[in-house]
Amino acid sequence: VGSGGTLLGRVLPDAVAVAERTDDPPEAEAGMFDAEREAVARAVPRRQAEYRTVRYCAREALGRLGFGPVPILSGPKREPLWPDGVVGSLTHCAGFRGAAVARAGSVLGVGVDAEPHLALPEGVLERVAEHPGERAGLAALSGRDPDVHWDRVLFCAKEAVYKVWYPLARRWLGFEDAWMTLAPDGGFHARLLVPGPIVQGRELTALDGRWVVADGLILAAVTLLPG
Ligand SMILES: CC(C)(COP(=O)(O)OP(=O)(O)OC[C@H]1O[C@@H](n2cnc3c(N)ncnc32)[C@H](O)[C@@H]1OP(=O)(O)O)[C@@H](O)C(=O)NCCC(=O)NCCS
Repeated sequence: VGSGGTLLGRVLPDAVAVAERTDDPPEAEAGMFDAEREAVARAVPRRQAEYRTVRYCAREALGRLGFGPVPILSGPKREPLWPDGVVGSLTHCAGFRGAAVARAGSVLGVGVDAEPHLALPEGVLERVAEHPGERAGLAALSGRDPDVHWDRVLFCAKEAVYKVWYPLARRWLGFEDAWMTLAPDGGFHARLLVPGPIVQGRELTALDGRWVVADGLILAAVTLLPG
């Protein structure tokens, strides 16, 4: 499958096909399906642009798995709806749009998130990292590497956790429902503090992922592999 040279490829295994953009190419419009156009017809131009481009990326990534172009609509909780036999995740932020997809036989679930590499707005961290232990972990990391906005890395990792969680559990997961530990080497571990879905006969109790800071962005991804 491969993903050479991409930011998403730095946080995802080879079994996951990725495509990403830092601009909104005009050709993304031509590839849109009517149902997708309808879904964002009343959205502001910025939202229409990210919606179009991320789906352009998703179709490119699906193509690498051997799938032809299909519409990518959204479920009732805004989750992207993939063709049968596919798992995947989408993300967009200022200056980045990315899609990650895999065959459901080789990957059970994937969640990706991109954020600008900037400190979180005042007051947000307290909501995102409710557990004092999580905030103490961030303080230690800041002491070690003050150039990384660890608060935003934590936020980004939790969003990636939610995006892999939701399609498996089909229920809400709050920021307080996962205890996140970031590792300075680009890993993270989320201990789930609420009952998890049964995946391959076992309750899901934790999720592991990877993060990277590059090109003014933070990328985080969680991949749940079988076995
Ligand atoms: C859903 C959420 C994670 C999206 O993250 P975001 O940083 O705001 O936005 P991004 O651009 O990175 O991602 C948006 C994409 O996420 C995907 N997404 C939205 N809801 C989703 C869901 N329930 N499950 C899986 N993916 C979802 C969609 O593909 C969406 O893009 P689209 O509308 O163009 O299809 C966020 O808005 C949210 O609700 N967070 C609260 C829940 C949470 O993070 N809990 C932490 C648990 S530890």
